Amino acid sequence: MNPASVLVVDDSEVIRKGIAEKLSSFGFDVSEAADGDEALMLARSAKFDVVISDIVLPKVDGIKVLKFFRENCPDVPVILITGHATLETAIEAIRERAFDYLLKPFDLSELVNLTKEALAYTREKGNGSFNKSSKNVKIEHQLELGEIIGSSPAMQEVYKKIAKVSRTDCTVLIQGESGTGKELIARAIHFNSKRKDKPWIPINCGAIPGELLESELFGHEKGAFTHAFRSRPGRFELAHKGTIFLDEIGEMPLALQVKLLRVIQERSFERVGGLKTIKVNIRIIAATNTDLESLVKKGGFREDLFYRLNVVPIEVPPLRDRLEDLEPLIVHFLTYFCKSRDLPVKEVSPEVMNCFYEYNWPGNVRELENLIERLVILVEGDEIKLEDLPPRFKSRKELLPGDLPAEFPSTGISLKAEVEKYETQLIFKALKKANGVKSEAARLLGINRTTLLEKLRRRGIPLSSI
Ligand SMILES: Nc1ncnc2c1ncn2[C@@H]1O[C@H](COP(=O)(O)OP(=O)(O)OP(=O)(O)O)[C@@H](O)[C@H]1O
Ligand SMILES: [Mg+2]
Repeated sequence: MNPASVLVVDDSEVIRKGIAEKLSSFGFDVSEAADGDEALMLARSAKFDVVISDIVLPKVDGIKVLKFFRENCPDVPVILITGHATLETAIEAIRERAFDYLLKPFDLSELVNLTKEALAYTREKGNGSFNKSSKNVKIEHQLELGEIIGSSPAMQEVYKKIAKVSRTDCTVLIQGESGTGKELIARAIHFNSKRKDKPWIPINCGAIPGELLESELFGHEKGAFTHAFRSRPGRFELAHKGTIFLDEIGEMPLALQVKLLRVIQERSFERVGGLKTIKVNIRIIAATNTDLESLVKKGGFREDLFYRLNVVPIEVPPLRDRLEDLEPLIVHFLTYFCKSRDLPVKEVSPEVMNCFYEYNWPGNVRELENLIERLVILVEGDEIKLEDLPPRFKSRKELLPGDLPAEFPSTGISLKAEVEKYETQLIFKALKKANGVKSEAARLLGINRTTLLEKLRRRGIPLSSI
């Protein structure tokens, strides 16, 4: 087998050379790029097995490098390195399906291990029963995994709302962090409604540049703009009698927001460059992971449109606030990914489970799903152990309670959430010290047993898992 080729992208020569030398000594064939531009140029002319990129780079940054690979070479794993680990970069990395991210400073042997892991993952993925492009896997997956898992009180509220709004045609606004399942919920509403046999038309307003978005939504007439060689209906027309799902609505340019408002009010519009008014019968569901109300205050979103969309709001809570759902979700994904590869269903060790309860899941259910898929492919035995987890879990484990970041994050923190996390760590440590005996753990913590049980219950930690 040829040596695996790795592209290392970092603007700091010292770091780049250090990584390159280390990887070469392990037999990798290493290419280097000093910025994102150079990386993209190399990527167009050569094939790489793994990419390692710093996030902060001059001109084209690491997230753009990642996006380029996801779009053009979806099977190449990209490992990101960051010195500024804000929640946003972590979310973005997971959202764009980075293989993993490492925080600076890191141990070079940790990076070598991660590179080997990434390589094994793609080789295995390419050889196994998933012998398709990752896009196919994802689509097939979504079709089979349409089910919404979780029975926490918060999700039960969501189910109640889905049931209620499915019987009506009212406009729904789904809000929640990235990866919480907003699209899954929108689909559930459509496919449980009387429109279920009619079109389901999703459109991601954040992924299409403003000037194209208008003609995507409203269609255009021949000659309306330079490349409009023939007339084309837009998504609103295609959704006639069915449902249109306006994803990432917060990204819609203000100029288009006015036109959308009219569609909501009158259910009519004109194609770009057209004179004829087109009437449609559509149900509108919108979703966003930005706080629309504060966007309204900042002038980035029209207030009247917000109220028109927010007829029935559905808030999808982040995974860290409904830890009761963690275990059923893990079982669900383990079963799905193992069965689709004809493997016996793996289990996670109690230590891994505890580690998952402590983690704050910035990428929510999507992050969990990607992680389980990767572990199913990489872990040989029947049990997933602590050492199988990627570094971001380990470095958290090694943090002593009370460790504070060297610098206060410029994006700010949630004091309540941080204190909760600190408390959770102390509770786990006390339980470990007390060998799982809860009354003893309570004594060590200086609280009474019922308070401890209440704290565990509130965090959704099943008492049987301790
Ligand atoms: N409750 C759940 N049960 C099962 N799978 C889930 C659940 N929630 C999310 N998922 C899965 O997690 C992934 C992300 O979900 P989805 O795309 O609906 O999230 P989203 O909120 O739209 O994210 P984004 O804001 O990033 O677009 C999907 O593959 C989905 O199938
Ligand atoms: Mg989505």
